[in-house]
Amino acid sequence: MTTAEPGHAEPMIAPSILSADFARLADEADAVGNADWLHVDVMDAHFVPNLTLGLPVVKSLHRATDLPLDCHLMIDDPDRWAPDYAQAGAANVTFHVEAARDAAATARAIRAAGALAGLSVKPATPLEPYLELLREFDTLLVMTVEPGFGGQRFMADVLPKVRLARDHVRSGHLRLFVEVDGGIDEDTIVAAAEAGADVFVAGSAVYDAGEPGRAVDALRAVARRAMRAH
Ligand code: DX5
Ligand code: ZN
Repeated sequence: MTTAEPGHAEPMIAPSILSADFARLADEADAVGNADWLHVDVMDAHFVPNLTLGLPVVKSLHRATDLPLDCHLMIDDPDRWAPDYAQAGAANVTFHVEAARDAAATARAIRAAGALAGLSVKPATPLEPYLELLREFDTLLVMTVEPGFGGQRFMADVLPKVRLARDHVRSGHLRLFVEVDGGIDEDTIVAAAEAGADVFVAGSAVYDAGEPGRAVDALRAVARRAMRAH
């Protein structure tokens, strides 16, 4: 586990428990104890057509693992709910700009509750309108699939947004983790890392592997090579 700062040069791997066995979440977290963050997908069957878990499960997971929890809220009305996830122990709380009413105020409330604040954009959502808003955030989560389900195909056509965010981090305008989520495996992680991502969510590529911990190490090694070569 690393306690990294945005802009550090090391890749971070965040296994998504969406692909884990929900009846054995503590064991599934243990299986990826070498990860950097544990990615927790919260879905409400409104913002996305799928339903997963909420605050009680996040609170229990926080007690069950030392891994920093990376909560990805795919829910309506994140302004109301996001700070509660910070209070529940999440290390990073990311919500969707498409669902937020006052994203800056919500980011401040998340930070005031002690977590990093993240903003996520769906594949069709452009980044340019939010480049100033992102100064209120610690994490940008660029969706590389339509949010809602694991196991989908990586959308390389969103990578220009990753490049744009990385340019703004390099210039000092933004100070952010640049995270990608959806369809990340040992092949697609190369393009994402070359584009400038530094946090990589992987669900099926980790939990469908025979040994999830080894899959985390393998993804990190490939990402590190791609980041160094760039
Ligand atoms: C999808 C979720 C992802 C999902 C990724 O909406 O946000 O975190 O778990 O799963 P894979 O890595 O299988 O695409
Ligand atoms: Zn996610």
